[in-house]
Amino acid sequence: MSVRCVRTARENGEAIRQRLAERGALSGDHEIVVEDGEIYLPLDPAVDPETLGSDLEVVERSVDRRETQTFPEDILGFEPSYERLGEIVIIDEDDGERARTIAEAIRESDLPARTVVNRASPIEGELRVRRWDVLVGEDTETVHREYGCAFELDIADVYFSPRLATERHRVVDSVGAGEHFFDMFAGVGPFVIPAAKRGADCVGVDLNPVAVEYLRRNAERNGVAERVTAHHADVREVSGYDGWADRIVMNLPHSADEFLGAAVGFAADDCVLHYYDIQPDTDPFGPGEAAIRAAAEPEYEVTIETRHEVRSYAPHELNVCLDVRLTR
Ligand SMILES: C[S@@+](CC[C@H](N)C(=O)[O-])C[C@H]1O[C@@H](n2cnc3c(N)ncnc32)[C@H](O)[C@@H]1O
Repeated sequence: MSVRCVRTARENGEAIRQRLAERGALSGDHEIVVEDGEIYLPLDPAVDPETLGSDLEVVERSVDRRETQTFPEDILGFEPSYERLGEIVIIDEDDGERARTIAEAIRESDLPARTVVNRASPIEGELRVRRWDVLVGEDTETVHREYGCAFELDIADVYFSPRLATERHRVVDSVGAGEHFFDMFAGVGPFVIPAAKRGADCVGVDLNPVAVEYLRRNAERNGVAERVTAHHADVREVSGYDGWADRIVMNLPHSADEFLGAAVGFAADDCVLHYYDIQPDTDPFGPGEAAIRAAAEPEYEVTIETRHEVRSYAPHELNVCLDVRLTR
């Protein structure tokens, strides 16, 4: 039967699938089709394709009805919310009893889940790691795939958010071969690895020694170790990169402003800075812009190229990104 589908390159499939799933836009009744290097993600007929974003291509094609798979909602009788990170399924339930019921249904379903975890704390501390209640399985290490890259990580030890896949892709899409790419808070490498795959010379720094170890492993795993230098350090203590960076990523919202002095020191004469922030929705960009100007002017001319809303973070709080050109 003919169904409206989002068509995308196969390597982008999982990230786009997650984005559509978060919107509740996927059809649960039809099979996903992979054909000639492309993937077709069937849409729920109730969804207006116009609302999905202009970067997605929607086509009509024939797909099979899904017959045999059992989803958690088939077992529970309601649709639980969860996200997938490799073979780990993450839920966010305050009620422990409900969490265990959902975890059990996930285990019994056909989802490829080895481990089910419930969030047990907010993201905490300098290393931005969360605590988890492990409800099914025991292994919190997995390999997550995103836009053609594979990331090995342990969610008990490092920060990683699959929800930022589209944002990372937006940033990395403008990276050019030979560019000097500096990620000041690199984690396991979700910006660094795809940037290196595009031919950039990359430096990634992180305070978390486990994250840096995974960053090195991920560089190997993705075949870009020659273009990735990883440092375990407080990025303010890193030397040898004065005036080096053509592009700097600062994904440490809440406190990135404290690191702008170091960022300006790393910047080349012409440098693009991707500055992440979390601010009230009444003025999400103002504080970041003021902090960048205070750190970089008058040595650099500061041009705000994009004011980008990444996602809603909490009621009345937005996670935003300022793409800023610094020109000496
Ligand atoms: C929000 S996470 C972002 C990680 C990665 N860029 C990503 O998108 O998944 C912030 C990272 O900054 C690291 N970090 C915190 N303070 C730091 C510092 N002073 N110097 C270097 N890294 C730091 C944390 O360990 C954490 O891995």
